Amino acid sequence: MSVVVKPNTLVEPLCLKDAPSLIERLLPVQKLSAEAYKEQMAGNGKTLTALGSYWKGRKPLILNKACILGCLLPASDDLKMDLEVFEMLMSMDVESVGKRLRAKNSKEARLALAQYGSGENTGCYRDWVDQSCRPEECKGDLHSHIWDRVNGHLGTNVKSFPELVEQLGIMRFGHRPKVADTFCGSGQVPFEAARLGCDVYASDINPVACMLTWGAFNIVGGGERARAKLAKEQMSLVNQVRDEIDELGIEAGGQGWRIKGLVYCLETRCPRTGWMVPLIPSLVLSEDYRVIVELEPHEATKTYLIKIKVGASPDEMAAARKGTVRSEGKGQEPYMVHVINGVEHRTKISTLRGDFRLHDGSTGNKLRLWERTDLKPRADDIYQERVYAVLWTRPKSKGSGEECIFRDVTPDDLNRERAVEDYVSQHLSEWQEKGWIPDMKIEAGGKTDEPIRTRGWTYWHHLFTPRQLLIAALVRKHLTAEMSFGYAQLLNWNSRLSQWNGAKTRGYGITAQTFYNQALNTLLNYGCRGFSSCESLLNLDLKSFPIAGSVNTKVTCDPAANLKTLNDIYVTDPPYGDAVKYEEILEFFIAWLRKNPPLEFSDWVWDSRRSLAIKGENEEFRRGMVTAYKRMTECMSENGIQVIMFTHQSGSIWADMANIVWASGLQVTAAWYVVTETDSILREGSYVKGTVLLVLRKRQGLHKTTRDDLAWEIQEEVEAQVKALTGLNQEAKGLYRDENVFEDADIQMAGYAAALRVLTRYAIIDGRDMTAEAIRPRVKGETTFVDGLIAFAVDTANQCLVPQGIPKSHWDKLSGAERFYLKMLDMEARGAKTLDNYQNFAKAFKVRDFKPLLASHKANGARVKSSAEFGRTEIGEGSELHQSVLRAVLYALMELQKNLDGGDVLSHLTLNVPNYYGDMTQRELIIELADYIAKRLEGIRPEEASAARVLCELVKNQRLG
Ligand SMILES: C[S@@+](CC[C@H](N)C(=O)[O-])C[C@H]1O[C@@H](n2cnc3c(N)ncnc32)[C@H](O)[C@@H]1O
Repeated sequence: MSVVVKPNTLVEPLCLKDAPSLIERLLPVQKLSAEAYKEQMAGNGKTLTALGSYWKGRKPLILNKACILGCLLPASDDLKMDLEVFEMLMSMDVESVGKRLRAKNSKEARLALAQYGSGENTGCYRDWVDQSCRPEECKGDLHSHIWDRVNGHLGTNVKSFPELVEQLGIMRFGHRPKVADTFCGSGQVPFEAARLGCDVYASDINPVACMLTWGAFNIVGGGERARAKLAKEQMSLVNQVRDEIDELGIEAGGQGWRIKGLVYCLETRCPRTGWMVPLIPSLVLSEDYRVIVELEPHEATKTYLIKIKVGASPDEMAAARKGTVRSEGKGQEPYMVHVINGVEHRTKISTLRGDFRLHDGSTGNKLRLWERTDLKPRADDIYQERVYAVLWTRPKSKGSGEECIFRDVTPDDLNRERAVEDYVSQHLSEWQEKGWIPDMKIEAGGKTDEPIRTRGWTYWHHLFTPRQLLIAALVRKHLTAEMSFGYAQLLNWNSRLSQWNGAKTRGYGITAQTFYNQALNTLLNYGCRGFSSCESLLNLDLKSFPIAGSVNTKVTCDPAANLKTLNDIYVTDPPYGDAVKYEEILEFFIAWLRKNPPLEFSDWVWDSRRSLAIKGENEEFRRGMVTAYKRMTECMSENGIQVIMFTHQSGSIWADMANIVWASGLQVTAAWYVVTETDSILREGSYVKGTVLLVLRKRQGLHKTTRDDLAWEIQEEVEAQVKALTGLNQEAKGLYRDENVFEDADIQMAGYAAALRVLTRYAIIDGRDMTAEAIRPRVKGETTFVDGLIAFAVDTANQCLVPQGIPKSHWDKLSGAERFYLKMLDMEARGAKTLDNYQNFAKAFKVRDFKPLLASHKANGARVKSSAEFGRTEIGEGSELHQSVLRAVLYALMELQKNLDGGDVLSHLTLNVPNYYGDMTQRELIIELADYIAKRLEGIRPEEASAARVLCELVKNQRLG
């Protein structure tokens, strides 16, 4: 492609010291959402995930890249060109997307590329991205075409990101930019910053977070030498542990067979029958090979024999999916069930545990609390543990690969189990002393109560069977910093909280990870790996993105408030709300690493320091946040910039965050909203989550204002912002395939942002010190001063979002529910269908409950009801559309589609619309609404559109009087 280099629009000499950053003016959030979403959907294919799949809430690298570049790049007086260059750097431009499609080289990608290349602009950006590689997956020259243009616009002279970042840093800060993340978590922000070429400071209060960040820098970001070292260590560790296990003779079964997996269940005595009943929710071991277990009653001992059946019939498979623990439905309490002589006996699990509630409201149960030396239940415990299936493996006699077989548990198996228990028991104290097995108590907490309450487990090692403890201890013995990642994965995938996963495509089955969600859920049956299937966990399949040798990286394990280094850019994703209780669940790993950690990690505090972790949403949370952000502000260059990411949960968070940054001496300069969550997460809850990016600078001076003046200022700012973004939409049209760069929801967000921008400029409003206001205790349900101002700003933004075809004077008269319906119809006509749009607009238009107005609530397939789907509903007093003109119009459309006589339809309409004859504007409104609906529905529901046209004519031609 020939490159037209535009003259540089920035003023020479190139000093960007006080230049606004690009992210303060624009960010292509629609495209970025598509990219972020694609990355999140990649699951284990994500760049850093293999280092620790147990980490929840990774912020997409592509989003982090956008934030960092957006802070470094200047906004010039040519926003269109700024946008073009930014998109090139993000590989979102036309040529890069073409390369990405080519790199994918799938059938779908080739098809998409053919369309893309032919200029048939039928797809939208999201569709192209769906079929293409992520930028970081493309090898070769993805960026070769961009540098001339980039250099031309920015006045740089570079051919790579590290060079660009260094030059931009010098122009802005006088040196290579220093980027910091003091809530670094799994290291997603620090890694991206380092990969781009920034010097990086990362810290977190949690040592597991520090470890993952260290791994991101030094392993995924490490060079060839680091990888060679890791490969050598992996091989030697695996060999050593295998030799030790062979010597103990605990995995060999003769004729070359080795244990690949074992399946355990709890067992308990039925209080009704006195029988010992295995607690197995599903009797299926493998869907692929149709392996199940069958329970054979043994009268004499009142026990069940457990027999393996391979090749079960479809009926037997169906029956086996219902085991001895069932529940009537989601959220219903599970019960144990078994049948003796044709009689079914049911007992609730809570009854088995002996749950009770005392007069003072406290609760408990009759489970014995385990002691430090316990490795398994004692003979008189309510719950016993039983191994009930063994999966064996050996190399195929001919060719490559392995053969596997499930076998019933034999006396030899039980002997091997006992040998393991004895060996671990003999060494327990010594190993705990050395730190090879945890000796740490489980501290009570929101998430950590569960193992204590439901199993009586009181130490972290109780979450592992003796065999799991043995393997983990043998690995721990030889642990190095580099091997800690595989080791943590081993713990994650091989604990008493690891389900046996024999679902379709899983072959014979394998254990699942403990942290399949962000809790510590105890299980009634679970799997355990033989060492042969632990090897793949230790030999992690890690990606490689060497960080430039000149880049400096540092990781420390400190609370954010203890920050000591000066940085230019802070990009942080602080803990908000109770989303993930890192400070509790990660103790699962801390327990194993805290004593004698590898040298590289030995300076870190191997404790989760729960009391210092920022959590919750109350005053304590706000105070913690203010202390942290105040410190970051103090440790930021004068012209430094911050981006804070947080999950958009409810409107109240805006006021919260505004207060926090305010009290920290910061000032908002922009805010953006990016949809980041994956589809499956979207489906779980009714609320869609996206990420809000708040862009901040140090607040300058001590400005005062009054609420009255603020209102004007907010209005002006919001209107200017909306105009700028809609203007950019128009400008970008030719260039960007007729797609909007910003949707209405983004523009609405810009409304919030504009409000915060105005508000946070001031330290004192109406004589009130806003810093004190921020940390003032709140009364539940109270609408604060700031809440009020923000609500005002949002209303102002909405005023600017009148859909075309309805005059503003009429729009102002409509109710929130009417505006919502009409607006959503407009969005649907343009192909939008994500539920979060509906949520945002319902909130904006103050619709109490938008659900009755929707025909589908699917995360990516939401839509409003058609007139026929409304039928006769939503007409009564309880409805938000009650007595509205819109409802009357929809009713008429429904009747017309049922072929009712036009005269009858009209006469119903005159009754349904209040003051039809008295107020002429009502008729005008009906005509406008019918015309509006006809135009919007033309492409999606032609029949209804035609009814709307008929209604329009009927009303227009109606003879009055
Ligand atoms: C939302 S997570 C960050 C996730 C990260 N951006 C990622 O992509 O993985 C928030 C982090 O803040 C840390 N944290 C909580 N309180 C802290 C404090 N007082 N100081 C420093 N870090 C803290 C938690 O340990 C957690 O790792």
